[in-house]
Amino acid sequence: MSAAPLPAAAPLLVETAVAAAVTPLAMRDALGRYATGVTIVTCLDAELGRVGLSFSSFNALSLTPPLVLWSLRRESSLLAAFQRTAHFAVNVLAANQLALSRRFATRREDKFDEGVWRPGASGAPLLDGSVAIFECETATRQEAGDHVLFIGRVLALAHGPAAMPPLVYQKGHYHGLGEQL
Ligand SMILES: Cc1cc2nc3c(=O)[nH]c(=O)nc-3n(C[C@H](O)[C@H](O)[C@H](O)COP(=O)(O)O)c2cc1C
Repeated sequence: MSAAPLPAAAPLLVETAVAAAVTPLAMRDALGRYATGVTIVTCLDAELGRVGLSFSSFNALSLTPPLVLWSLRRESSLLAAFQRTAHFAVNVLAANQLALSRRFATRREDKFDEGVWRPGASGAPLLDGSVAIFECETATRQEAGDHVLFIGRVLALAHGPAAMPPLVYQKGHYHGLGEQL
């Protein structure tokens, strides 16, 4: 029995404009096409207390050992806190946590006044209702261009039910998850 023919693939690069130069703006425009989830990475800093920021740069790195990564702008007001602290927590946001993502993407001191959270083993806030949570110790910090790359070893993790809808980010806008293809 022969398999059903696959649908013809769309021709490659049709209507894909070729940028003239790799400028920061062209990088942002092209990278923005890449859809990501949204995370809030938190830690408990000895000087600033509880801190957290919204990140789309979170990604999987290794299963054995269990490693994850994310990167922070070197100009961030919270860089020193994450450099001082040996542990952090990654909260992968659910679609209904959009307001939290906005809140943690601005400079304000009352970020943790909204939403329900509890301190993890390191004291880093764990946000209730996240689709997944990774409690990590910092394995490596490395300057990379205008960002600092953080690699964390996962010490503990948790996740919600499989049907829990995640928050998606693409081209500067928030989305829900689309249909399964
Ligand atoms: C959806 C989303 C994703 C973001 N991802 C990152 C990121 O991966 N790295 C980063 O440095 N900033 C990222 N930001 C920006 C930070 O959240 C923002 O710079 C920060 O909250 C502002 O405070 P700061 O100036 O103290 O860093 C993101 C913002 C949003 C809304």
